[in-house]
Amino acid sequence: MAIERTFSILKPDATRRNLTGAINAKFESQGLRIVAQKRIHMTTAQAEAFYGAHSARGFFRDLVTFMTSGPVVVQVLEGEGAILKNREIMGATNPANADAGTIRKEFAESIEANSVHGSDSPEAAAAEIAYFFAGTELVG
Ligand code: CMP
Repeated sequence: MAIERTFSILKPDATRRNLTGAINAKFESQGLRIVAQKRIHMTTAQAEAFYGAHSARGFFRDLVTFMTSGPVVVQVLEGEGAILKNREIMGATNPANADAGTIRKEFAESIEANSVHGSDSPEAAAAEIAYFFAGTELVG
């Protein structure tokens, strides 16, 4: 499988509980390299645009409110099959359905406060990385 890059967010519930190091350790110990990372406080406009694909969903407004409720860490992760590997490391969106050992099983508080976001396809990864990072900020 090819080396890929994927986009990741450590969400406000993770920064609030000081879990960024514990979550990054999960990525690094399972073969993903953090090639870009910054801590930001998303604006409402940024969160609305980032989650635009979900704008018709009933949870959209709550999702935007949550994602702007505190700092997040946006990241680019690199490795063999990084997009799928990251989704395996994160576990299911709803922590009630997440496998043992995954980030969401260990750390998520709810389907909304689920600690991490990860791109779900190569197309999404490219778009999401470009939304938050300049090419010069990715250092492999
Ligand atoms: P994420 O991978 O960031 O993409 C969209 C987010 O919407 C998802 O993770 C969840 O945290 C959040 N969300 C909140 N409610 C729901 C829901 N009912 N179904 C799916 N996603 C939800």
